[in-house]
Amino acid sequence: MPNPHVQHQVQFIDVPLHLLEGTKQEIVDYLMASHVAYRDVKIPKIEQQFLGLMKLYPNAPALGAVFNLFQKFQLEMQWHMKHEEQVLYPQAISGIKEENTHVISHEDQEPFLTEIIQLLESGRYVKNPFGRMLIDGLKRFDEDLRLHAWIEENLLML
Ligand SMILES: [Fe+2]
Ligand SMILES: [Fe+2]
Repeated sequence: MPNPHVQHQVQFIDVPLHLLEGTKQEIVDYLMASHVAYRDVKIPKIEQQFLGLMKLYPNAPALGAVFNLFQKFQLEMQWHMKHEEQVLYPQAISGIKEENTHVISHEDQEPFLTEIIQLLESGRYVKNPFGRMLIDGLKRFDEDLRLHAWIEENLLML
């Protein structure tokens, strides 16, 4: 059982090794490619899985509420990624930090996804294969985002 209080723990081995010695530009390229994958592949896929599950359980209002929570989370994330791409990454590459730059906190974001997963796991969908697929997908996404944040904080010093 993973301890929910232990956050930001990333297995060192999970970090792509070439990034440890990469230039800022290479690290930013890697992070940007991850953003594209989140936006174009992972988030739409999770949305589709939610919609599919809602069709299977049309009388489960709680599921709609959890989906709304996910929508809120992903909108917040879209803003977060845009801010990184337009402001923080260019600053990390140039090494010039402007004053009054809004600094982002990954800690504020993380509990969101954890809560979504916990809510789904406490429902009856957990026994449904599609529900299981959604939960597993969200868990992988959560781990992916933690690794992503770890790279941003420790290799890019955001
Ligand atoms: Fe990012
Ligand atoms: Fe980030």
